[in-house]
Amino acid sequence: MTLLALGIETSCDETAAAIVGADRKILSNVVFSQVLDHAVHGGVVPEIAARAHLNAINEVVAQALKQANVTFNDLGLIAATAGPGLIGGVMVGLMTGKALSAQLDKPFIGVNHLEGHALSPRLSHDLQFPYLLLLVSGGHSQILLAEGVGQYKLLGSTIDDAAGECFDKSAKLLGLPQPGGPELEKLARDAKNPARFDMPRPLIGKKTLDFSFSGLKTAMRERIDACTVDGNIKREDAADLASALQTTIAGHLSDRCKRALEEHRGVTALAAAGGVASNGVTRAMLELVAKNAGIPFVAPPSALCTDNGAMIAWAGIERFNMGQRDALDVAARPRWPLAENTVRIQS
Ligand code: KG4
Ligand code: ZN
Repeated sequence: MTLLALGIETSCDETAAAIVGADRKILSNVVFSQVLDHAVHGGVVPEIAARAHLNAINEVVAQALKQANVTFNDLGLIAATAGPGLIGGVMVGLMTGKALSAQLDKPFIGVNHLEGHALSPRLSHDLQFPYLLLLVSGGHSQILLAEGVGQYKLLGSTIDDAAGECFDKSAKLLGLPQPGGPELEKLARDAKNPARFDMPRPLIGKKTLDFSFSGLKTAMRERIDACTVDGNIKREDAADLASALQTTIAGHLSDRCKRALEEHRGVTALAAAGGVASNGVTRAMLELVAKNAGIPFVAPPSALCTDNGAMIAWAGIERFNMGQRDALDVAARPRWPLAENTVRIQS
């Protein structure tokens, strides 16, 4: 019978649990968003997040089992995010996973949240190593060479903000709710004149695989201020600005991936993961880059790009298949770089 894993994710503001099979079948993928809890504060408040995870986790796990039509006894593995993330939240999910593992006498694996994202394209697609991976989320923007499970070479990362942060902060300036990325994408669809606003192109001409997004945020603030009259911005101006920002971010991400592919031939695919990888314009541009390089573009569906339990269950399965079993003293880690033990390659 196929091994079934329970994956638990609580590193930010989503309480999530999923049941996934070693045959890559997702039997359930329950995500409980805390967005409303944080809305009045304009961002994720760690203490509120931890409390909300605690309140939701038992029900979310119960729902994941129910929707998958399985019981605890059917599980062969428990996996939970052990970091990086907001420590209070990570502890809630990690402790829940460990307690279940101890109580049910099932193997346990503490998963690196970033590895969850990094391996998610192998859950959604039949993808072989090595692949070039663009990992873009609310807290991270990295280009990695994924050579195997646990083998990631960092080729480039952001020198300031993350791509998702740039989407979120710009959306906030436009008065959109958080998380801002999907809202900004929606608004940009209404743009009548997407080419109207000129945006700076970060690190243009620089021979690097790194990203920079803080200048874009500043540029957005200046352009929004210029369009604001009596504290209001016209919807058509906001839509044109949203479109300009989205195109610039997508262009920056795909430009770096193009360069990375030129430097690292022999990969099976260009893959993208993390919340920002669900952005339609970004996906379209990356697809073109991959096509021009003669390789496929692989990105999970949106529900597997943003934080979820299925990617944690899958990363657990991948590690379990390599023989890993974690003791129950695995620590919760606020910081846990994915390429921790690998050397950064200079471009
Ligand atoms: O991976 P994720 O769910 O959480 C982290 O690990 O950070 O990524 C969340 C980020 C947020 O910044 C959110 O605004 C962004 O991903 N995001 C998007 C889209 N969907 C989510 N950004 C642009 N376009 C989207 N459609
Ligand atoms: Zn994430």
